[in-house]
Amino acid sequence: MSLLQCLTVATALILLQTLSLTVSSTVLSRADRITRLPGQPRVGFQQYSGYVNIDDKKQRALFYYLAEAETKPISKPLVLWLNGGPGCSSLGVGAFSENGPFRPKGSILVKNQHSWNQEANMLYLETPVGVGFSYATESSSYEGVNDKITAKDNLVFLQKWFLKFPQYLNRSLFITGESYAGHYVPQLAQLMIQYNKKHNLFNLKGIAIGNPVMEFSTDFNSRAEYFWSHGLISDLTYKMFTSYCNYSRYVSEYYRGTVSSMCTKVMSQVSIETSRFVDKYDVTLDVCIPSVLSQSKVVNPQPQQMGETVDVCVEDETVNYLNRRDVQKALHARLVGTRKWAVCSNVLDYEVLDVEVPTINIVGSLVKARVPVLVYSGDQDSVIPLTGSRTLVKRLAEELGLRTTGPYRVWFAGQQVGGWTQVYGNILAFATVRGAAHEVPFSQPARALVLFKAFLGGRPLPDEF
Ligand SMILES: *[C@@H]1O[C@H](CO)[C@@H](O)[C@H](O)[C@H]1NC(C)=O
Ligand SMILES: *[C@@H]1O[C@H](CO)[C@@H](O)[C@H](O)[C@H]1NC(C)=O
Repeated sequence: MSLLQCLTVATALILLQTLSLTVSSTVLSRADRITRLPGQPRVGFQQYSGYVNIDDKKQRALFYYLAEAETKPISKPLVLWLNGGPGCSSLGVGAFSENGPFRPKGSILVKNQHSWNQEANMLYLETPVGVGFSYATESSSYEGVNDKITAKDNLVFLQKWFLKFPQYLNRSLFITGESYAGHYVPQLAQLMIQYNKKHNLFNLKGIAIGNPVMEFSTDFNSRAEYFWSHGLISDLTYKMFTSYCNYSRYVSEYYRGTVSSMCTKVMSQVSIETSRFVDKYDVTLDVCIPSVLSQSKVVNPQPQQMGETVDVCVEDETVNYLNRRDVQKALHARLVGTRKWAVCSNVLDYEVLDVEVPTINIVGSLVKARVPVLVYSGDQDSVIPLTGSRTLVKRLAEELGLRTTGPYRVWFAGQQVGGWTQVYGNILAFATVRGAAHEVPFSQPARALVLFKAFLGGRPLPDEF
């Protein structure tokens, strides 16, 4: 973003901030209002979706979907949700499989009884360009995209989105997400805080990240112990996976195209024992057989939807739904330079080595800036296991000199234990979600909603029922 652009946006926003009570705020966003999504049940809240150009030449545009709160949207916060990948869609995964108001089922949409828009106005962003319906007119824009570019683009998106939705200016804002969004969320929050020093624009009230990548080695190397303790690999293979070639070494070598023979040997043994018929994102649940058979090679976190009481093939349903012409029309979405909407981008060439850049230190700087942080973890995930996240949060609390203000204990959702939690300095919290996958709101929607509600309210998780 050029300095000029930055100032223009800031000036316009200040103007809007002053005028927002008099300007009819619906005018700018009206074109993006969704009349009705094909197959959706009747609902009492508004939905919007469309594009925000993030450069002046209108060559790069990000696609968003806003599901306003079911009741009293004006009094509820704005929550941005980001999925990871990098390169996976917050619309397809977040909104339509996890915490949005609807889930596709055949040709219709069914209501999600635990949608997060019961508590907040939910904004889903497909980012960076090349993901989902977001696009660039020049395919060169898909090359060399990295964390820095993504964070900047996300910031510009929000600034310009506020021009369309001035009624949300200065609304309490939370940023949430999962997996690789353990990079996106803190990096965006950090930019907001820097921006706020000049122009107080973002009323940032907290961040929550689920099964997040925050520190490559700690996160990735928790996998071996997780596999072993859940019976997915043998004692011998565990030993090889921790002493001969650990997972972070394998991934480092893989991304550099230099996989050693030792790592090849260890990883092939690990793969044989864990089997592709076990979902690494939830080791206890069944798999969607058609999805598994169509997946030739999965090395790094790629969202898959698996569940027992939930539709394990919801990802396939989402792909079908979002590729319908009538659905795309209703969403004001366009396919530019690609023939199909995909869960994770096929055109984006992301800087994969950015996965090695730690973000736990950024999380620390947010805490220092008094931004409340929740790190939560679905405890059935072997991709970014709870053990790594718990270690990282505890280590961060020690570094910041934060004492335990809420000792490690269970929390409740209904009459059952929803998971375990610990709070440091009344500002940094860790929580597990019992029986949840990498995608917590997908596999444990009721528990996820309890967690979300407490987080928004700045309240401790229920300690009794
Ligand atoms: C924004 O909201 C905060 C409270 O969250 C309030 O203190 C502040 O005055 C508001 N600013 C504007 C410009 O309305
Ligand atoms: C993983 O392997 C690398 C390279 O051999 C080593 O430097 C690192 O300490 C190992 N990490 C763990 C947690 O075992």
